[in-house]
Amino acid sequence: MYNWFNHRKNHLIGQTAYSAQFIILEGPIQPIKYAMKTWMKRIGLVVLVLLLVVAGFAAFIQFGGMPSFEPIELDLAVEVTPERVAKGAKIAAVQCMNCHMGSDNRLSGMHMKDVPKEFGVIRSRNITQDKEKGIGNWTDGEIFVFLRTGIRKDGSFAPAYMPKYPLLADEDIYSIIAWLRSDAPPCNHRN
Ligand code: HEC
Repeated sequence: MYNWFNHRKNHLIGQTAYSAQFIILEGPIQPIKYAMKTWMKRIGLVVLVLLLVVAGFAAFIQFGGMPSFEPIELDLAVEVTPERVAKGAKIAAVQCMNCHMGSDNRLSGMHMKDVPKEFGVIRSRNITQDKEKGIGNWTDGEIFVFLRTGIRKDGSFAPAYMPKYPLLADEDIYSIIAWLRSDAPPCNHRN
């Protein structure tokens, strides 16, 4: 007659490698414990990979610096008309002036105090027609490319706090350039 105890005993004979713990845990608990262990391992691995990805990204931001690009050359001469200057003044009033207007009421740049101080001291730049401090030496093509893409003539890329205008109509950018070139007081460093 089949005897379960005998069966177990026979089964265990010669299996010296089985530990006491194994015998105790034999039964339905054993597979669950195994499954949990494998899942814990898998979850641990996923968490580890995620941590590495986040750490890698943080290191990239910390040490990568701003990207630089091939400079884009654009042959452009914007005709300065009164209509363009007037339109450019309107666009600049709602865009550029907020950030570039200095304490001298010219586009001489300012300390952007609204930026949280964790980002460090951020200054907008002088975009008057001054040939040394401002953008008096930039060509129309260089200003156009910069406003569209944020890429300067040396290939450097302006950080996020200088907006890029990829979707602004050509004519609107021409108007901004015409206004920057005009003798409007904010654009001019002399008067
Ligand atoms: C939200 C603030 C902000 C607005 C709006 C803004 N700028 Fe700027 N701009 C900046 C900052 C900050 C920099 C400096 C970026 C840097 O450090 O490289 C900058 C840089 C520039 C430069 C590069 C100057 C240089 O010497 O490299 C030009 C040109 C410029 N802005 C023109 C404009 C014009 C034109 C407008 C309006 C259409 C405008 N910006 C709108 C913040 C702004």
